[in-house]
Amino acid sequence: MTRVLQVGQLMPDLSETLRTTYDALVLPDGPDRAAFLAEHGPKVEVAVTSGRSGVPTAVMDALPALGAVVNFGVGYDTTDTATAKQRGILVSNTPDVLTDCVADIALGLSIDLLRGLGAADRFVRRGDWAAGSGFPLMRKVSGKRVGILGLGRIGRAIATRFEAFGCPVSYHSRREVAGTAYSYAATPAELAAGVDILVVATAGGSGTTHLVDREVLAALGPDGYLVNIARGSVVDEAALVDLLTTGGLAGAGLDVFADEPHVPEALLGLDNVVLLPHLASGTVETRAAMAQLTLDNLDSYLADGTVLTPVPEVL
Ligand code: 8YV
Repeated sequence: MTRVLQVGQLMPDLSETLRTTYDALVLPDGPDRAAFLAEHGPKVEVAVTSGRSGVPTAVMDALPALGAVVNFGVGYDTTDTATAKQRGILVSNTPDVLTDCVADIALGLSIDLLRGLGAADRFVRRGDWAAGSGFPLMRKVSGKRVGILGLGRIGRAIATRFEAFGCPVSYHSRREVAGTAYSYAATPAELAAGVDILVVATAGGSGTTHLVDREVLAALGPDGYLVNIARGSVVDEAALVDLLTTGGLAGAGLDVFADEPHVPEALLGLDNVVLLPHLASGTVETRAAMAQLTLDNLDSYLADGTVLTPVPEVL
């Protein structure tokens, strides 16, 4: 009996465990998909996926017995939670276990960006130092004004780290967060106008698409830095590239992009950008914890029809 279906690519270890311990099948891509779904779709009760692919609505529609989407990753913007809710399908994610690693990378990107670590490394490797050139003076990180867009679990962990650097922190979220000492900005543009580093830490999805638009980036201004560890969709990437290449922004540190794994060509030659391949949660420790929580959610659903860490949209 097929109860578990893997949708999209997962870590090899996790995929192997799903196959050997849960008899999971893997949804094929391309022309075989329709026939596969016609044959196996009716028996599938749980889909295990990741934020990278999610479960497309068309696939959900072909799984009449689906009761849960178990998502590897904290972000689940690629899964249609409105349809899931309508059909009573639970969706779980992997919060908390990746918070530290993602927050660490927000700090790492900021330090690299302002101090030019990547650019300086290239300078040394090119032989410029040995040839007698001097690396230009960069910008101090400690004490910079930092704005966090989205003060959720990850946003708070980023804020705490910047506090240790003596950075005054402000934020914008859908709602003002009670019990925090950080100052609240009413809009993303207001937040951007008052900070040196704007860190995007909000969830992706239709509710936040281009929340950081040209106006917000212009408010950050020629001395401002953008750091994005959330989703590429949150930032108007065309406007970002435009401002970065015309001096409208000081720099950007990006772990996420609008059309991954494609990075805008215009950014590849710039030394005032740091480009990462969506690796913020990518440590041995954190990925193992994410895989474990994914399996714990799966076990829970198979045992009693509940998941341990449901996403709020389906409750
Ligand atoms: C993962 C992420 O790399 O958790 C998330 O939302 O973006 C990353 O931790 C990704 O989900 C894996 O596909």
